[in-house]
Formats: sequence, C-alpha cells, structure tokens
Amino acid sequence: MELWAQAKTEEELHKNVRSYPMELMKPYFKPDLSFKISVETFCNRQSQAEKVTKIESFSYLPLEGPVKLNDPDVCLQLLEYYGLDSNHIPEKPYNLFFGRWIADGQRDVITKLSLKTRKFIGNTSMDPQLSLYMANQALVRNGDLVLDPFVGTGSLLVAASHFGGYVLGSDIDFLMLHGKTRPTRIQQKKHRDKDESVRSNMQQYGKDNQYLDVIVADASLPLWRPSFKLDCIITDPPYGIREATERIGSTKNYQISDHHLVGHIPSKVEYGLQQIYQDLFQFAAQHLKMGGRLVCWIPVVR
Ligand SMILES: C[S@@+](CC[C@H](N)C(=O)[O-])C[C@H]1O[C@@H](n2cnc3c(N)ncnc32)[C@H](O)[C@@H]1O
Repeated sequence: MELWAQAKTEEELHKNVRSYPMELMKPYFKPDLSFKISVETFCNRQSQAEKVTKIESFSYLPLEGPVKLNDPDVCLQLLEYYGLDSNHIPEKPYNLFFGRWIADGQRDVITKLSLKTRKFIGNTSMDPQLSLYMANQALVRNGDLVLDPFVGTGSLLVAASHFGGYVLGSDIDFLMLHGKTRPTRIQQKKHRDKDESVRSNMQQYGKDNQYLDVIVADASLPLWRPSFKLDCIITDPPYGIREATERIGSTKNYQISDHHLVGHIPSKVEYGLQQIYQDLFQFAAQHLKMGGRLVCWIPVVR
C-alpha cells in the first residue's frame, strides 16, 4: 500500500488523512476513475455493517468517480491492527493505517512451496520464503532462462519457476541429483522413494514444462559454451559447514592411462570459499546477458 496516514485512534487517523498533501491524492480522485474503499481488520472480525460505517467515515474525501466493488481503478484501504493475541482482542485497534492499495502480496505461495510437503528435500534445501526472495531479487520473468550452478535439491529452481523462469542446474554431487543420498526425513528410515528428484519437485508444483534439466558437474570447471547466455543465476554455494566444499582436482601429479579412464571417478580437493566466489563472479560475468542478475548468499562473520 501507499501509506497516506497512520494513527492510534480513529479521530487521529482522519486528522492525518486530511493533512496528507492533496496534490498526492488528487490523481486518484478523477471523475473517470472508479473506486472502492475496503476495510481489513487484523486479529479481529467485523460485521459488514460495522465496515460500512467505517467506509462512510471517509465521505469527506473528494472522490468523484463511480463506486465499483469489482476491480476498481482505485482501491483505498483502511487497515486496523488489533495485536497478535486472539484470546485478548482489544475493543479498539492498536494501530490504524489508511492508504492506496497497490498490489497483493503472495504469502500463500510460501505455504504452497513448504519443505514439509515437498517430494524431494535435502539437509541444505533452501527455505521457500528465502528462495522466493532470491527469485524476486533476480527479477525472474516469464520465459527467462535461470541457472543454479550449486543446485542441490533444486529449491531455488522451484522459486524461479514460480515467476515463470525456465530452469536448469548443476551440482557436483551425483548421489544428490539421483536422489540416492541418505533420506532427510526422519520417518524415511533408510531409503528415499524411487521418484525423488528435482524433476519430481517441479512436477509437484505443475512446473515440469519449465524444467530443462540438471547435470552433474563441477562449478569450478568450464561447462557451457562461451556464447551461452542466461537471464539470471540464483544460487546458494556451499560454505563447508553443512556440506563439503569440493572441486575436482588432485594434489598429486599422476597420469591416468586410457585403459583406466572409462569409469574413472576423479579425485576431489578442497574448494576454498574465496575461489568459489571468484569462479562464480567470473562465470556470471561471462554468461549473464546485459542487465541479468546474479543472486547468491555470502557468509559473513558478524
Ligand atoms: C548449500 S547446497 C545448495 C542447496 C540447494 N540450494 C537446495 O535447495 O537444495 C550447496 C550445493 O553445492 C554442491 N557443491 C559443492 N561443491 C560443488 C562444486 N564444486 N560444483 C558444483 N556443486 C558443488 C553441493 O553438493 C551442494 O548440493
């Protein structure tokens, strides 16, 4: 909402609305703009009659357009806050707010994407609210190409697909991407379900048509051709606390014979935090289109 006034009492609220600069309200008071005023009460229920009385108390506003309850051009809103304790609701609200509605939030999506009900999760699956923030900060739009180079169980891909992104990811952990790591849920004793995968998660939310794929790969090594361009990179790199920070490499100097190359599992070395971010920024600089965004977490010592 665009806040026009706030107060602790009704009288004070009306006084404050009246003193809100008219030149800021005027653009919404035109004869050709339909309007409605709605009342929302937090932690209290009110009858329609009570709401109507409150709506009519704003009759001094010089609203000139027709009233339209469904999809009006201008929606003004009174919010009343009755605290957080539903067992002790005060007679009058603690706070009142009045302003112009701009857009609805999407908090319901957080519940929809809850990790509790998600098919495939791991120890480091990112919380849905934070994942949605990240996709929002990355400005993911319909049809964007979004990559997570440390994809894990794909939580960030789920969030990016919510905003219309076509998603792909990579991760060094073969077992993770194949849903073969130890189960994260306590009730799953030894084995994960056969169909646990990033793809299943996308299917669960009806986004499988936006799922491109995930690939087992080391983010420290070049994988994509240089001309490959992305709209967004959203990622949560490993910090070495809950998961290993590894990359392919060896401290020893040896040559693998052709005979042993087939089926060879490369050895890994420690992937230092500074190197991880250096590689990530380098990768983003090369593969993000102009104006594209990298959104990632960086651990700090506070
Ligand atoms: C913090 S977790 C990401 C969790 C993910 N956001 C999710 O929701 O499940 C970091 C991931 O980076 C992966 N990883 C570690 N080193 C890597 C490397 N060198 N290249 C690619 N992935 C790596 C780990 O296997 C782990 O899955």
